[in-house]
Amino acid sequence: MDNTLRLQYLEAMGIDVWLPRVSVPAEQPPAFEEAIDPTEAETRISATDNWDVLKADVAGCTKCALCTTRSKTVFGSGNQQADWMLVGEAPGQQEDEQGLPFVGSAGLLLTEMLRAIGLTREEVFMTNVLKCNPPDNRDPHVNEVESCYTYLQRQQQLIKPKIIVALGRIAAQSLLKTDEPLSGLRGKVHTFNDTPVVVIYHPAYLLRFLPKKREAWLDLKYAIQTFKNNEG
Ligand code: URA
Repeated sequence: MDNTLRLQYLEAMGIDVWLPRVSVPAEQPPAFEEAIDPTEAETRISATDNWDVLKADVAGCTKCALCTTRSKTVFGSGNQQADWMLVGEAPGQQEDEQGLPFVGSAGLLLTEMLRAIGLTREEVFMTNVLKCNPPDNRDPHVNEVESCYTYLQRQQQLIKPKIIVALGRIAAQSLLKTDEPLSGLRGKVHTFNDTPVVVIYHPAYLLRFLPKKREAWLDLKYAIQTFKNNEG
């Protein structure tokens, strides 16, 4: 899509355009704490695991009932050696049809959010807690999250990202195995298998509640700072 068309599309959806930023101003740290969430993934994954095996395991997965209703599994997309790993909740209907994550309007906003911090979809790795679409876009069930959890762990262990960004409450709670509300999860550095995790609003939520955009920008700046702290 060319840039003008893309901007028109965003405007038509009522989305303010996120301007690309070369660098992030250091001023005004938000009311965020440097808290540590001790949650860690328990399972250590086999040293012989590899990307093709993992992809095939996901594609053929029958661990829960979602395998009977899905069209395609949605493994994730992007850079297999990404520094940034983004984790959403579950594929929606469009993602289920295409077998790709974040292809709908939330995905378009997510692409803009990435662009605002100088990243492209190709540079990061995007995936979801669930690799299959829950019918009618309902929330994931506990057994579905559990069934899919090792796929996420294996993806993290193969990619070895420097930061994981959890998108929204359900992704964050599932990833971190916590019931804490989103308000208590944002603005802190959590960990998943020794990788720092920062929680931000889900882009689908931001599409519905545009006034949250400023907080979303602070979250992104916090993620960048966390990434830089872990870069060395
Ligand atoms: N919402 C998600 O959480 N994931 C997707 O892939 C698409 C929408």
